[in-house]
Amino acid sequence: MQMDEIIRCQDVSFSYPGSGEKALDGVNLAIPRGCCAVLEGPNGCGKSTLFRILLGLDFPDRGSYCFDGVQITRKNMKDEAFAASFHKKIGFVFQNSEVQLFTDSVEHEIAFGLDQLGLPEEEVRAKTEQAILEFHLEKVRERAPFHISGGEQKRTAMAAVFAMEPLVIVLDEPLSGLDEEGQDFVRGLLKKKRDAGTTLVVATHSRELAEDLADLRIRMDRSHRIVDIG
Ligand SMILES: Nc1ncnc2c1ncn2[C@@H]1O[C@H](COP(=O)(O)OP(=O)(O)OP(=O)(O)O)[C@@H](O)[C@H]1O
Ligand SMILES: [Mg+2]
Repeated sequence: MQMDEIIRCQDVSFSYPGSGEKALDGVNLAIPRGCCAVLEGPNGCGKSTLFRILLGLDFPDRGSYCFDGVQITRKNMKDEAFAASFHKKIGFVFQNSEVQLFTDSVEHEIAFGLDQLGLPEEEVRAKTEQAILEFHLEKVRERAPFHISGGEQKRTAMAAVFAMEPLVIVLDEPLSGLDEEGQDFVRGLLKKKRDAGTTLVVATHSRELAEDLADLRIRMDRSHRIVDIG
């Protein structure tokens, strides 16, 4: 394995339990550190499924997935210390980001992850403030994440993840549900993070975003395979 690869999938196949069909079929993928990889392909081709594998939420039926040189397996992830150190390095924003919000206010949502990292209280407070400003959440900071708009939820989910400064951030459809201003904001933000050296893995149906952002474009098709990397 080359040392500068942070993500490597080798011949990864996966079927959801009870489903006779493969959601991923022999996927090979290598993402260099600091790269922005954009994953494109039609509905149902397996993008979100691949992300579940990358995040250690599901595991390949066949083939292997290595993150930062270490294989991610069900057994490894059962080890609390291993899982904690893995989760420090990789953050994610789901396609339906509202499902990942669970605290009673926007500011607690952002502080929670920072707290989990074991940062001192003062640093948690400072980083939370910074994220609230950067993601324009001042007006909703005390509101419950269930009672803010979809776009605000998306920004909250992103703020919580970006504040933790993981090595890799996985974003599934980061533009979905956002108005034009929100889309411009996210596009600018992702470019900024990419230029700062964060490894980004982004699934999107927006060709414009892919063209704007990608160092590496990965195309999947209905065969649940990667058909093009460029
Ligand atoms: N929880 C699940 N149980 C069973 N099958 C699933 C589940 N989630 C997804 N699938 C199936 O796995 C395949 C890949 O789905 P996936 O959600 O990864 O596609 P996607 O590329 O993210 O699509 P979209 O562009 O619509 O987000 C599809 O055939 C889908 O129906
Ligand atoms: Mg999806």
